[in-house]
Amino acid sequence: MDSILVRGNGALNGQIPIAGAKNTVLKLMCAALLTDEPLTLTNVPRLADIRTLSDVLESLGCEIAQLANGRVLALNATQLTSHKADYDLVRKLRASFNVLGPMLARAGEAIVSMPGGCAIGARAVDMHLDALERLGATIELKDGYVHASAPKGLKGAEIPLRFASVGATENAMTAATLAKGTTVIKNAAREPDTKALADCLIAMGAQIEGAGTETITIQGVDSLHGATQAVIPDRIEMGTFMIAPMIAGGSVELLGGRLDLIPSFAEKMQEAGAIIEETKLGLRVTKPDGPIKPVNVTTEPFPGFPTDLQAQFMAMMCFADGVSVLEETIFENRFMHAPELLRMGAHVEVHGGTATVTGVDKMNGAQVMATDLRASVSLILAGLRAEGETQVNRVYHLDRGYERIEEKLSAVGANIERVKGS
Ligand code: UD1
Repeated sequence: MDSILVRGNGALNGQIPIAGAKNTVLKLMCAALLTDEPLTLTNVPRLADIRTLSDVLESLGCEIAQLANGRVLALNATQLTSHKADYDLVRKLRASFNVLGPMLARAGEAIVSMPGGCAIGARAVDMHLDALERLGATIELKDGYVHASAPKGLKGAEIPLRFASVGATENAMTAATLAKGTTVIKNAAREPDTKALADCLIAMGAQIEGAGTETITIQGVDSLHGATQAVIPDRIEMGTFMIAPMIAGGSVELLGGRLDLIPSFAEKMQEAGAIIEETKLGLRVTKPDGPIKPVNVTTEPFPGFPTDLQAQFMAMMCFADGVSVLEETIFENRFMHAPELLRMGAHVEVHGGTATVTGVDKMNGAQVMATDLRASVSLILAGLRAEGETQVNRVYHLDRGYERIEEKLSAVGANIERVKGS
């Protein structure tokens, strides 16, 4: 298995292009199941998760062509040849549970494996199922699969979510596009990915209002048509590369970077001392002279501080001049990077959903491994300033969500390489 070697190498300077958003493109791909016409996606990142979801969609009869070196995906679900998404495929990627809403709406039937537990927490799907039941579906759980059926079609309904779940909002919204009548989703997720999905559905002929706010109203239509949609920039990749120069020093311009995608994160970065400027091409982040300031953060649904940037922020706080408290409220088991950071010399104490980080002057390279995507990248970030060599194992987690991370970081001066494993 490949690993990544990082050696602390001083300041980073230069430009890093930001790829299309993983968490957006996966949901747009699922939307292709809603129509018998082609959906073409541009600005697609080249990531392992896209291959995994492509396998799921192909197993349902969707044809997928990669164009422009993988930057463009053409998806064509002229005919659904199966209504069953298998465990072996769904278990690899939770986002594939979002084939449920589109398949049910289009075919009146869907059998989708429960996504199962995941390294960062239980990640239940009760709200997804409740939403579809409110739309008139009959749901049964059998042998680890969700059997959803609505032979006479779905009917618009009011869907109050007890928590602003991203996945449940998206499953409900996609299903409701083809339901009869009006659906109102209350306490809806406001994440940019959810807004981008609504924009794509609107381009396909859906009638949706209020995406990006707490109330989304969908007026069902008889059918959707093909469209071409560009994927928005990846705010989590952007945030990760904003932290890199704060840890290593220097100044990096993020091409395609946008502050509106990360409002709370940008504020916390500024509190930590980062100088952030909007440029003609995106954003520039500069580490000022002097130490990183300690900053407390609590993860929250958008527009709050994203859970997907908590691990990276912790890596930065490991070098801060004082004590910071990081509170994780979205996923219950999301501090698995902490013990690995300790191996590199960090001072982190975890109690339940709270991590207290006492900054240190110096950390040391070590062999580390992480059990999820964002945890892995936090170890690379720490390695940028650690003395000696950090070897991050289990790189397949990184490849799920970061496109050519070693190339992007070495282009701005990091000493980082991929070592091919057996
Ligand atoms: C989450 C993130 C999203 C990120 C994605 C990928 C939040 C709010 N969501 O989305 O920004 O892009 O991971 O990393 O930060 N839950 C239930 N029942 C349900 C659905 C969810 O109890 O039916 C719980 C989950 O167990 C979890 C929380 O709600 O504790 C967050 O859920 P949700 O937003 O649905 O997660 P994802 O869609 O995976």
